Amino acid sequence: MHPYFLLFTTTIFILIYIPGSFCQDDERYRSCGEEFRCGSMDIIYPFWGGRQPEYCGHPSFEIKCESNIPKIAIESTSYEVININAPNRIVTLARDDLLSSICLDNPKNASFDLNTFSYVSSDLNITLYFHCTVRPGLQLPPSPPNRFNCDSNMFGIYTLINVPFDLSLVTCEEEIIARVNQTSAVALASPTASVDALTRAIAGGFSVNWTAGIDSKCQQCRTSGGRCGSNPDSGDFACHCVNGTHSNDCYDGQNQAGGNLLSTITHNLLRPFVSR
Ligand SMILES: *[C@@H]1O[C@H](CO)[C@@H](O)[C@H](O)[C@H]1NC(C)=O
Ligand SMILES: *[C@@H]1O[C@H](CO)[C@@H](O)[C@H](O)[C@H]1NC(C)=O
Ligand SMILES: *[C@@H]1O[C@H](CO)[C@@H](O)[C@H](O)[C@H]1NC(C)=O
Ligand SMILES: *[C@@H]1O[C@H](CO)[C@@H](O)[C@H](O)[C@H]1NC(C)=O
Ligand SMILES: *[C@@H]1O[C@H](CO)[C@@H](O)[C@H](O)[C@H]1NC(C)=O
Repeated sequence: MHPYFLLFTTTIFILIYIPGSFCQDDERYRSCGEEFRCGSMDIIYPFWGGRQPEYCGHPSFEIKCESNIPKIAIESTSYEVININAPNRIVTLARDDLLSSICLDNPKNASFDLNTFSYVSSDLNITLYFHCTVRPGLQLPPSPPNRFNCDSNMFGIYTLINVPFDLSLVTCEEEIIARVNQTSAVALASPTASVDALTRAIAGGFSVNWTAGIDSKCQQCRTSGGRCGSNPDSGDFACHCVNGTHSNDCYDGQNQAGGNLLSTITHNLLRPFVSR
């Protein structure tokens, strides 16, 4: 190959790729500094959304701001986000479907990937029975507190550990297990509890904590001047710094996209030829 040709192509590659990758690095750092507020809630890492790209948070922690209400979808169930306690890794959620109507037509159990989330132990299970009718020849006790009406001839029942119900009196087509906090559980146990207590309990939400593995590297990244996020390719933790994206913090040598000039040049020169 003619030496000038080599020089020419190399120069072209450098001109095309280097500025692009430097801008991109700085851009990640900048985009992840965008504030994301939804209603009165500040959304912070590992959550992301609004004008922040996915690489500003953990891929599974996207928040959509709908009419100033932060929403998150987990395992295809949608939740309203009631509170985020990032230092303690706890998020309080309320099921969207139950918030809009306690009488679900097609009730589903919510599920969580147990590698990511656990239910906090201070909340309690509540079992919701739907499409219930009284068994022929039997009668319910007068106005049991844990019955809620759905339409003229069907009703629902809820039971908690402290609010039992004699289920042999009824047939119900479906049941799901949901969670309520302790304050709600006490209110639901009151003999004068009504459907309002149930809707308040659902609206009060329940909490899950996320595994430390999700964001345990974030503090170190922040201390080094970086902004926590993820690698757009792998989804793994990444620290976005002024001089590029690193895997742990801004001082580690492992710049993942540009920064170190030599590695940038090599990386970008080889990029067109290496498919990953
Ligand atoms: C609560 O419900 C979950 C399923 O949603 C179940 O795994 C767990 O064992 C229940 N806990 C208690 C105390 O019944
Ligand atoms: C929800 O989970 C409970 C307990 O695991 C189960 O008995 C019930 O049938 C499930 N409900 C639905 C609608 O899948
Ligand atoms: C529990 O839920 C109730 C609604 O019933 C709510 O007012 C309260 O703030 C919640 N408590 C906690 C600790 O989240
Ligand atoms: C939630 O917190 C409890 C207690 O701190 C801990 O044992 C559990 O592992 C946490 N769950 C997850 C998914 O990290
Ligand atoms: C990025 O900047 C930090 C401090 O400003 C420095 O320690 C680090 O070596 C730099 N990384 C690269 C790959 O240039």
